[in-house]
Amino acid sequence: MGRDVIIACDFPSAEQTLAFLDRFEGEKPFVKIGMELFYGAGPEIVREIKARGHKIFLDLKLHDIPNTVKKAMNVLSRLDVDICNLHAAGGAEMMRAALEGLTRPDGSRPLLIAVTQLTSTNQETLENELLIREPMEQVVMSYAENARNAGLDGVVCSPLEAERVHSRCGAGFLTVTPGVRFADGDKGDQKRVMTPAQAKAIGSDYIVVGRPITAAADPVAAYQRCCAEFIG
Ligand code: C5P
Repeated sequence: MGRDVIIACDFPSAEQTLAFLDRFEGEKPFVKIGMELFYGAGPEIVREIKARGHKIFLDLKLHDIPNTVKKAMNVLSRLDVDICNLHAAGGAEMMRAALEGLTRPDGSRPLLIAVTQLTSTNQETLENELLIREPMEQVVMSYAENARNAGLDGVVCSPLEAERVHSRCGAGFLTVTPGVRFADGDKGDQKRVMTPAQAKAIGSDYIVVGRPITAAADPVAAYQRCCAEFIG
């Protein structure tokens, strides 16, 4: 899989999601299914979108004891998604167990990436609530290295961190980056944003784009603009 635009389908129901995807007619964008849609519509929505020919990033951010994550990943491996994720904060043993659970009997598996630090966490939260004294940047890089050492394929990170993650963990270690906005677009609640062209220049492998596409007057045109800027 090369560089691509992943649409965050943050809709509450299967009906709304499928109606949105119907607008793309011949095109088959890469789709992100998060907790809201998965918990609301169940695994059937994953099968339905897959059957329509889309690639899927299942963004469920698992974080539990290694045995539980291994078993949950084993269930997810049967859904035939392309990318799954978990929290690097669960530790190396949990990440290795997740990889084991995700690997099918024939040796194939979806890509597995780790969330380093949520962008909703800031330095103050790290220090006062999580009791982590190191600077955020160092924590993110250290978690990314833990994920790489555990055998994972990449991380979800801010586009601002993508370049450093690549230099620390290797060019082949995937960076999947949300927080993308058009230069003339509304930032919404995202604070640190980049345009698709800037994310390309900095070396993001995948950008995750929600509202700039899903809330656009013409989502198909917005998706195509994103692809033109990011993939070229
Ligand atoms: O609408 P918007 O483009 O902001 O959507 C971004 C998507 O990426 C959402 O699904 C959001 O949950 C997700 N995300 C994020 N920041 C992170 C991790 C995931 O915005 N650090």
